[in-house]
Amino acid sequence: MTLVLGIDSSTQSTKALLVDAETGEMQDERRAAHPEGTEVDPRAWLDAVDEAAGPFLERAEALAVGGQQHGMVLLDEHGDVVRNALLWNDTRSAPQAQALIEEMGGPEQCVGEIGSLMVASFTASKLRWVRDNEPDSAARARSVMLPHDYVSRHLAGGGDAFTDRGDASGTGYYSTRTETWVPELAERALGHALDLPRLPSTPQEVMARTPGGAAISAGTGDNMGAALGLSLGPGDVSVSIGTSGVCAMVTDVRPDDASGTVTGFADATGRFLPMTTTINASRILEAGRALLGVDHQELSRLALASEPGAGGVTLLPYFDGERTPNRPTARATLTGMSASTTREDVARAYVEGLLCSLADGIAALEDVTGTAAARIVLIGGGARSRAVQELAPAVFGREVEIAPSGEYVALGAARQAAWALAGTDEPPHWEITGSRTVGAEATPQVLATYRELKERTEGW
Ligand code: XUL
Repeated sequence: MTLVLGIDSSTQSTKALLVDAETGEMQDERRAAHPEGTEVDPRAWLDAVDEAAGPFLERAEALAVGGQQHGMVLLDEHGDVVRNALLWNDTRSAPQAQALIEEMGGPEQCVGEIGSLMVASFTASKLRWVRDNEPDSAARARSVMLPHDYVSRHLAGGGDAFTDRGDASGTGYYSTRTETWVPELAERALGHALDLPRLPSTPQEVMARTPGGAAISAGTGDNMGAALGLSLGPGDVSVSIGTSGVCAMVTDVRPDDASGTVTGFADATGRFLPMTTTINASRILEAGRALLGVDHQELSRLALASEPGAGGVTLLPYFDGERTPNRPTARATLTGMSASTTREDVARAYVEGLLCSLADGIAALEDVTGTAAARIVLIGGGARSRAVQELAPAVFGREVEIAPSGEYVALGAARQAAWALAGTDEPPHWEITGSRTVGAEATPQVLATYRELKERTEGW
């Protein structure tokens, strides 16, 4: 059996899957934790990948790394780390994102070039933050990499860094129009020119080899990896309920949403991956569970015992501010309580609030791409909730596929590695067994009431 290794270097941990290259069946799995925080010494990811993937290296003929998007790894002329990496969820660079948009000539020009409206998460905003706040670090920096590039290069035993167009499209200095780096944008962000990783000419290119001889393909960002792991095709939408809520659609159309609701990333196969990302996702269920003093199973039971519309109670779930829509200082709003409101209604309002927020994400993707979702696939920790599974088709107004729980980012990385090994035009066909399709009677009034509340609270 030919084995390939898929690695997910995510915000919380490194996961390594050893997979049969022909079928995609998982053979073995290991993981190692990462330090917490929104700024992290990137060398910790190298220790974690050694621990999680090290014992698999000898057995794999090819490997790839999927990683958290956007993070800024700055290196000096000796290849040493200049400062801690700033991660995607570090929001200190919000004013810098705004300044960069203005310097590019405004939102339309920004989206026209990089495919997305620059936000604090993007690497370029972080470079500018370093220039503005740590001029010594800025002066020492010679190259910048994304988290997955840094881990891939480590596995290659050093050498030139490389990346892929998917993860590159979240930097703010890659053009999804010309499909190349725009080095001047990185230079303008930091104040001087920087070395950027090499880009592949095809998505299945072998970019390097491990000291043991295994092929290393370009790797990609975690969301692009998940799309590859789920074998999403054009028009398919994945809805991931994790720490953040991510709706992503594979499409042939280059997205350009100047409102910033949809980020116009590239995917890992040569197509595009427009996405909406919310800060509040599984934490909404967690907040509901904590408020009612129950476990997740009981939260589901309570929610399902209420009725559509939660007896008039509506939750706008922007607990910790929100990124989509852009309400960074917002707080959650719970309305419509009467003296007879029950615990069941409150539980229902929490689940419906989460699903309405995701329904808005799906609608925005359909709007920007002009394509109706062909398939909606639910993944992530929050998708294990019985109430989420049963109410998603009602709130979304269509059938939903529940994917079996799995490490889809690592699986997608493994699929890219198997593709590089095969050298074929298309990635290998891997079947995902155990998916379940669920339907329900649509409850459009739930989403309508939610949207009214969303409009009413604009600017709060
Ligand atoms: C996407 C984003 C997150 C990270 C999580 O724009 O910021 O989904 O990729 O790792």
